[in-house]
Amino acid sequence: MTARVDGPDKVTGRARYACERPAERAAYVWAVPAAIARGTIRSVDASQALALPGVLAVITPDNAPRLPGTGDQELALFQSREVAYRGQFVAAAVAQTLETARDAASRVVVSYEPAPHDVTLTAGHPGLYKPEFVNPRQQTDTATGDFDAAYAAAAVRVDATYTTPAEHNHPMEPHATIAEWHGDTLTLHDATQGPSRAAGQVAAVLGLGPGQVRVIAEHVGGGFGAKGMPRANVILAAMAARITGRPVKCAVTRAQMAAVTGHRAPSIQRVRLGAGPDGRLTAVGHDVIGQTSTLKEFTEQSAVATRHMYAAPHRRTTHRVVRLDVPTPSWMRAPGECPGMFALESAMDELAQRCGVDPVELRLRNEPAVHPETGQPFSSRNLAACLREGAARFGWAGRDPAPGVRRAGRWLGGTGVAASTYPARAAASQARASVSAAGRYQVRIAAADIGTGARTALTAVAAEALGVTAADVELRIGDSALPPAMIAGGSMGTASWSWAVIKACRALREAIRARDGAVPPGGLTVHADTAPDVAALSGHARYTFGAQFAEVRVDADTGEVRVPRLLGVFAAGRIVAPAQARSQLIGGMTMGLSMALHEESTMDPQFGDYLHHDLAGYHIAAHADVLGLEAVCLAEDEPELGPAGAKGIGEVGIVGTAAAIANAVHHATGIRVRDLPIRLDKLLRRNP
Ligand code: MOS
Repeated sequence: MTARVDGPDKVTGRARYACERPAERAAYVWAVPAAIARGTIRSVDASQALALPGVLAVITPDNAPRLPGTGDQELALFQSREVAYRGQFVAAAVAQTLETARDAASRVVVSYEPAPHDVTLTAGHPGLYKPEFVNPRQQTDTATGDFDAAYAAAAVRVDATYTTPAEHNHPMEPHATIAEWHGDTLTLHDATQGPSRAAGQVAAVLGLGPGQVRVIAEHVGGGFGAKGMPRANVILAAMAARITGRPVKCAVTRAQMAAVTGHRAPSIQRVRLGAGPDGRLTAVGHDVIGQTSTLKEFTEQSAVATRHMYAAPHRRTTHRVVRLDVPTPSWMRAPGECPGMFALESAMDELAQRCGVDPVELRLRNEPAVHPETGQPFSSRNLAACLREGAARFGWAGRDPAPGVRRAGRWLGGTGVAASTYPARAAASQARASVSAAGRYQVRIAAADIGTGARTALTAVAAEALGVTAADVELRIGDSALPPAMIAGGSMGTASWSWAVIKACRALREAIRARDGAVPPGGLTVHADTAPDVAALSGHARYTFGAQFAEVRVDADTGEVRVPRLLGVFAAGRIVAPAQARSQLIGGMTMGLSMALHEESTMDPQFGDYLHHDLAGYHIAAHADVLGLEAVCLAEDEPELGPAGAKGIGEVGIVGTAAAIANAVHHATGIRVRDLPIRLDKLLRRNP
C-alpha cells in the first residue's frame, strides 16, 4: 500500500488551501446576493457601505469594469442589471478585513423591479424543449428499431417514472480564490479541479492572453465537479484586486454555495422496459426531463447510460429541458449516469420481479455482445464478472425474492443489487520530466489533486516508468504554469495524466540511455504531449462497470432505513494506486448512500431559492450512516486507454448505489420508492 505523499502535510495542517495562503496587504471581498429570483436592478446605493472605516470599494453594475468575454453569463459579473436567479451576485464590498467586508455588503441597498419567476420543474412544463446536445456534447436523443411497436407487443412491461431532487456537491472546502495582479498579469490561488482550463477561461472573460493568467491550486478540499470550472468568485476576486490594487481573498460562504457553485438538476425520468417472459429485453425506453437556467444551458445527460447497458433491438432515449429562473445546474459526481442509473436500475429490479427472474440473472441475460446502439465493440466489458463476483462475496445465492417477509423484531430486512457504469476516457495532456546531474528526477504536469490521491498515484506511475523509487521523484502539479493538462474530472484524471507522465518519463529514460547514463551538468529535460495518441484512439466503446449489492433494514414503525452492508465490485482497468482507488470507490458509494437516503435541495417556489443553506439543512450521510462498506476491483486489462491501462474510478462508485438501496428497501418492505431520497414518510404510507 502506498501512503499518501501529501498525507503528513494534510494531517499536520502544513498543506495550505487556496485562501489560507498568506498574502501581504490582502483585502477581502464579500458578495451581495440577489434578493429576488427574477427582475431588474433599479439602483444600488453604496453610501452606507462606503461610509464604514476600512471599506476600499463597493462594486456594482454601475461601476464594475466592463468584461470583454461574456460568453459564459455566469462569469459575466455585474455586466447586466437583469437578475436571473435568487442569490446571483449583484454587487460586492471590498474591505481591509473580512468582517468589515461582510458588514459593508450587508449595508449595500439594492432596489429591484421584480418580475414573476418560475422555478418549478414539472413534467408538462410548456417551456420544455429539445436541447442541441446534452452534457458534455452528447446526442440529445437516440432511436434504434421501432420502440413503440416493440414495447406495445412485449409480453412483460414496466412503465415507471422516477424522480431525483436537485442536489448540491458541498465539498468541505468552499470555493475560494486569492487574486493578485502584477501589471497586466494575474495570479490566482484557486480551489479548482483544473488549473490549465481555469486559466484559459479566466483569461477569456478578462480579455487577457493565455500567458497572462496563472492559476495555482496546490491543495483542493474536494470538488466533485463543482470546481471543474471557474465560478463567479474567481472573477470577483480578480475584479476586486484590479480595482483596489491589492491581493484580494474571496471565499464563497456555505450559504452562498447553494446558488453560485452549481447543482445537480432535478430529474423526472420515465423508463419503459419491454421483455419476453424470460426477462430478455426487446424494448428499452428512457425519457428524461430536467431543468437549466435562463443564463446558460446545461442538460444533465441522464439517459446516456441506458444506451449501452443492456441488449435490446428496439430502443429510444430522449432528453428535454426547460429554462427556469434558477441557478445554472452543473457537474456533480457522475452527472447523467448517477441519476439515470437510479431510474434504469430500479426499473430493472421491477422487471425482475414481474418476470420472476433473479435480478442478477436478469442483468446477465441482457448482456450485449457489442454496444447495443452503435455496434462498436467494447474495449473491455466486465459487468457480468462484477455481478458474479459480487453475488458470491455478498452471499446472494438462495435469496428469497419475496418482498416484505423478513422481520427481526421491528426491523424488516432486504437485499438489492444494481449495476454501475461510467465512461472510460482520456483527454490530451502534456508533461515534462527531467533529471539533474545529481540523479534527482522531477516530473511536472498541471494536474490537480482534489483529495483523490492524484499526487500519490502520479508519483508511483512516474517512478515505475523511470525505473526508480518514488522517493527519487519530485512531482509538481497544481499550477497552470506547468505543462497543460486535463482537469480532475470526468473520471479522466489518472488515465489522461499518467499517459503524459509515462510518455515523458519513458522518453527521458531513453535519452539517459542514449548517453550511456551520463547526465550533462545542466541535466536533461523532455516534454511529452499525448494529443496525437489520444486522437489516434480506436473506435471502441469504453466504460468502467461495476455491481453494487446492498443490505438494508427498515424500522417497520418509524421507516428508518439502515444500510448494514454495501459491497461494490468494479472492473476499472488496471488500478495504479490501490489504496487511493479504494478511497475513491467507497467515497463514491458513500455519496450514493447519501443520495439514496438524505440528499435533497428543496426549491422554495415562493421566493425562488434552494432552502438548504447549510449542512444542518442539507443532509448528507454521516459516519454513523456508513456501516459495512467494501469495494473490490477485479483485474482487468484495458489495452488502449494509455500505457497505465487505467480506466476511471472517480465517479463509477456513486452510480447505481441509490438503486441498489432502493431495490433492497423494496425487498425489505414491499414499498417501491421511485422518488429520491427515501425519506421515512415515504415508507410510512402504503404503496402498491
Ligand atoms: Mo466530475 S462531475 O467530472 O468532477
